[in-house]
Amino acid sequence: MNKKVAKERIDKLREELNRHNYNYYVLAKPEITDFEYDIMMNDLVELERRFPDFADNTSPSLRVGSDINTEFQQVEHKYPMLSLGNSYSEQELIEFDNRVKKTILEDVQYVCELKYDGTSISLIYENGILVRAITRGDGEKGDDVTANVRTINSIPLSLKSVNFPKEFEIRGEIYLSHKTFNRLNKEREEAGEQPFANPRNAAAGSLKLQNSAEVAKRGLDCFLYYLLGENLPSNSHFQNLKEAKTWGLVIPEHIKVCNNINEVLDFIHYWDRERKKLDFDIDGIVIKVDNLNQQKQLGFTAKSPRWAIAYKFKAEQAVTKVLSIDYQVGRTGAITPVANLEPVLLAGTTVKRASLHNADQIALHDIRINDFVFVEKGGEIIPKVVGVDISLRKPESVVTEYITNCPECGIKLIRLEGEAKHFCPNEQNCPPQIKGKIEHFVSRKAMNIATAEATIDLLFANNLIKTAADLYSLNKEDVINLERFAEKSAENLIQSIEDSKNTEFEKVLYAIGIRFVGETVAKTLASHFKNIDAIKNATFQELTEVDEIGERIAESIIQYFSNEENIQFVDKLCNAGVKMQIEEDSKLEYSDKLKGLSIVISGTFKKFSRDEIKKLIQINGGKNVSSISASTNYFLTGENVGPAKLSKAEKLNIPFLSEDEFIEMIS
Ligand code: IVH
Repeated sequence: MNKKVAKERIDKLREELNRHNYNYYVLAKPEITDFEYDIMMNDLVELERRFPDFADNTSPSLRVGSDINTEFQQVEHKYPMLSLGNSYSEQELIEFDNRVKKTILEDVQYVCELKYDGTSISLIYENGILVRAITRGDGEKGDDVTANVRTINSIPLSLKSVNFPKEFEIRGEIYLSHKTFNRLNKEREEAGEQPFANPRNAAAGSLKLQNSAEVAKRGLDCFLYYLLGENLPSNSHFQNLKEAKTWGLVIPEHIKVCNNINEVLDFIHYWDRERKKLDFDIDGIVIKVDNLNQQKQLGFTAKSPRWAIAYKFKAEQAVTKVLSIDYQVGRTGAITPVANLEPVLLAGTTVKRASLHNADQIALHDIRINDFVFVEKGGEIIPKVVGVDISLRKPESVVTEYITNCPECGIKLIRLEGEAKHFCPNEQNCPPQIKGKIEHFVSRKAMNIATAEATIDLLFANNLIKTAADLYSLNKEDVINLERFAEKSAENLIQSIEDSKNTEFEKVLYAIGIRFVGETVAKTLASHFKNIDAIKNATFQELTEVDEIGERIAESIIQYFSNEENIQFVDKLCNAGVKMQIEEDSKLEYSDKLKGLSIVISGTFKKFSRDEIKKLIQINGGKNVSSISASTNYFLTGENVGPAKLSKAEKLNIPFLSEDEFIEMIS
């Protein structure tokens, strides 16, 4: 096939696939079968592979994602992503209405929308093309997850019609339908993987996967609810959304303009009843002032708009029977009692287990096996038991006696004064504690070794690893014979372990898993002591003299290195070639020239990367903080400074610092 023919064919396939996508995902009226669609998509992917000159970032082939692993870039939001004020009662809504009317003396219309329980996203379109998708992050900057978002079929890569503003942002919620969530969890359970706790976690986790081909398989979906930009089509939020729909964007149907607060309350009552029928989770209703001029007049508080409020539904409850109680042992040895329940449907998903938290909670509610209990979904990973229906209790029921010994290793449990949980003190030999430590060691923020929990279980069960240090003695032959492993996957694992030897010392220190040594403490220790020997030999006084290292951390470090097994573990890592000292880079000289200074950075720099700048601040004794406040000492700016930070810095009169001035300061 020559180039000209290929181009024509590619264009044709793209056009057709875009049309079918729209029919299927936006109109829900497919014209062709999934099979026919897949054939066309395969053709396109193959042609684009053969003719890379025709690559295009609006091609529907991006929907299938790519196998290349990506680290997310942090991007500043043009308009900060704020949250909403919450309300839990009708009275609070009436007060909101009164506040609005105090400022706005004309008629006010409210737009009521469902509050989707997913993960928020900001999409940026330029000239009708999706150029960037950013997560909320800390509200000021988030992760650039564009490649992942391009796999979401209902999000157009290029817009229809021509009436859209040249540049705009549209915000919304990425979510998983119940149907997709249940399918995903079934697949995970069959593959021996940990199921997701709820659709929200599954959506948020999927969006942050580093392999967009994997994201494509998750079946994420999206609702868009907030248009932002300079030249919006209308002065009404509602009209803007209606207009955005004609551009091909997925605007939810369940949205209503209300003329007064009573109509708002009717909408809330209606959806409190009807929400159970939806195939996705909502956790409330969002009420927004419709008129953008009025919105502007009302403005924002530091955290949220004054022109909108969320009404949160009371958590749904279900009643079910406690079949048995398990006791789980965590990475740190903490024991969590978990009730196994007769499966019950709760807010769209089937609940089989619920956390009982600790011995006191069981005693407080007097929870017994065979009791009928009320379960609720909270913010936690698994639902919780909030009470017992005593009227259904049988006379022969017996009070639950809390366990005295570890269910995994049999050792007597301890309970420290002031702590709610029981602990298994057998840190070195209790299997879940060992496995938990290895999982922590390989995790993304630690050694970033590409492996699943199930693989660690397998390696451990086959006696191939006893500690994380044993990972470095594995070879391909050890792994290849394990269940679910093949030549390629075994090679990948070994390669990933090998690559982890390049991990910076501060992350290694975090990975080792010393109690209370989190990411930040590890960074501080690494830049102060520079190598593991200095930390190992540091006295209590030397440790507590370091800024931000308190007595509790110092004690924990000393205790860690007083244990021979820990010393052997660290030595083994060192012998395997894992980095046990910071890299002395000529550019990076340590000083305390920035001691006590808190510095916010923004934009891109010429001589250093943002990460290097952050590092320079840190090793010169300063502190890099993410958002501007009255206590910020300097605002260090490069090119393309975020407007939100800029205006805040100006407002608070924070002194600006250019890259050159900064270099001058530390040299
Ligand atoms: S509007 C400035 N509308 O709720 C206000 N948010 O608690 C922008 N959410 O971060 C948000 N459904 O992730 C808006 N219909 C809706 C929403 C919604 C869900 C989420 C969103 C936001 C959070 C605020």
